[in-house]
Amino acid sequence: MRFSSISFSAAVLLLLTVACSEPAKEKRAAIDNLIPKPSSVKADTGSFQLAANTTLNIDTANLELKKLAGYFNTLIKPATGFELAVKPAANDSTGIDLIIDTTIKKSPEAYTLSINGKKVTIKAGGGAGVFYGIQTIRQLLPDAIEATTKSETNWTIPAATIVDEPSYEYRGSMLDIARHFFGPKDIKRYIDLISFYKMNTLHLHLSDDQGWRIEIKSWPKLTEIGSTTQVGGGKGGFLSQEEYKDLVQYAADRYITIIPEIDMPGHTNAALASYAELNCNDTATKLYSGIEVGFSTLCTNKEVTYKFLDDVIRELAALTPGKYLHIGGDESHATKKEDYIPFMEKVQLLVKKHGKLAIGWDEVANSKLEPNTVAQYWADSANSVMAISKGAKLIMSPARKAYLDMQYDSTSKLGLHWAGYIEVDTAYTWDPANLEPGIKRENIWGVEAPLWTETIVTMDDIEYMVFPRLPGYAEIAWTPTASRSWDEYKVRLGYHGPRMKAMQIDYYPSKKIDWK
Ligand code: ACM
Repeated sequence: MRFSSISFSAAVLLLLTVACSEPAKEKRAAIDNLIPKPSSVKADTGSFQLAANTTLNIDTANLELKKLAGYFNTLIKPATGFELAVKPAANDSTGIDLIIDTTIKKSPEAYTLSINGKKVTIKAGGGAGVFYGIQTIRQLLPDAIEATTKSETNWTIPAATIVDEPSYEYRGSMLDIARHFFGPKDIKRYIDLISFYKMNTLHLHLSDDQGWRIEIKSWPKLTEIGSTTQVGGGKGGFLSQEEYKDLVQYAADRYITIIPEIDMPGHTNAALASYAELNCNDTATKLYSGIEVGFSTLCTNKEVTYKFLDDVIRELAALTPGKYLHIGGDESHATKKEDYIPFMEKVQLLVKKHGKLAIGWDEVANSKLEPNTVAQYWADSANSVMAISKGAKLIMSPARKAYLDMQYDSTSKLGLHWAGYIEVDTAYTWDPANLEPGIKRENIWGVEAPLWTETIVTMDDIEYMVFPRLPGYAEIAWTPTASRSWDEYKVRLGYHGPRMKAMQIDYYPSKKIDWK
């Protein structure tokens, strides 16, 4: 009786298991699903088994490689429980070799990755290439590698040879922390997410009508007053200089440069509310928490305005190891054109005085451009072509294709649609060098996808708007257009769904994709 009841239970259990289990997931080799798609991938037979006794082999005198080895361990430890030993490289060593070879004549972001049963080798001319090779290995490991808790997964890396390098030098995203404030924890997650897709720049929009978000020691009311609200009237916030420096370092450790933006002469209500003297009528404005644009302007013909900007740019330049400061310049509808032009010229000179180069939104082209000033195309192709005629390179952020705050479709609960709806296919199917007559490949420094945050309040909101579009923008910037096609990409993105889930990314499950 007893035995038969057990076997009856077992039979029921078996039936339930069979009935309830999902249909077997279609499997496709991880090597076929990489995003961004590498220049060349050759699959081989066999695989490398990552295990607790795998060693990371490096030139131990190279501090950058030591750091990269540490980073690799930090990535794999939560899911595997492994802390791989870091050893001096020897010719016959098994395990994972991280090699910087400065005789390699390619971009320091290029890398080769070879994997066989005994060894994994990443070789690059610079640390960035090693870092990107690590990101590729990450995508070749099972999705469970992204989990924050340990599992007994078989950690294999399929045998292959990958040769890879980026198409565009500048590959970025912008995060607006002015409309709604996002602090260091969220910004670090954003850095982690974009670095996974081999982006190398985070443009931080640090000031706007609704808030001033960076401590400026010589003008303390910017944060005492100007940071204390945001869209919708919340309490806002700001980054202290210490927090900002920590973010710059966190980003640098992931081969990301932070470009800080102080938007001017418009988009400045937070500053105008903080200091009466920046207004032409010497009266401080009220703090603002709506979403109109184009109503504010610094007083462009007062000396104090340039004293203010000299201080702000000096402090910001001191916090910025990167070459560029972004000076905004967009939608200055409350500034007369005859005031706007000399203003933007003076500010470029202040940036130069403090040892940096300027980036401006495409309207900056109306002014004289300093050598190496970069224009960021967002709305006006005529401005962008004018910038090119003045010798500038472009960052391509066409709002109708690349704005991460645009709704996916008319049912999206978050986002705006003044530049259109941007479904995942619209986000992917454009070529920066073939979008506007007069903008050619050689005029383009790179591609940036900006996220404005008028309607974005939480990190979950950020993730929902940014994913799954951002991997596509990363690929547009990394993979030459001739090697890209939507029909092929959308399959890879479908297989990328479980990866994003494992990364706890709250992505928009677009119906355009057959999610796995
Ligand atoms: C912008 O979207 N105003 C640059």
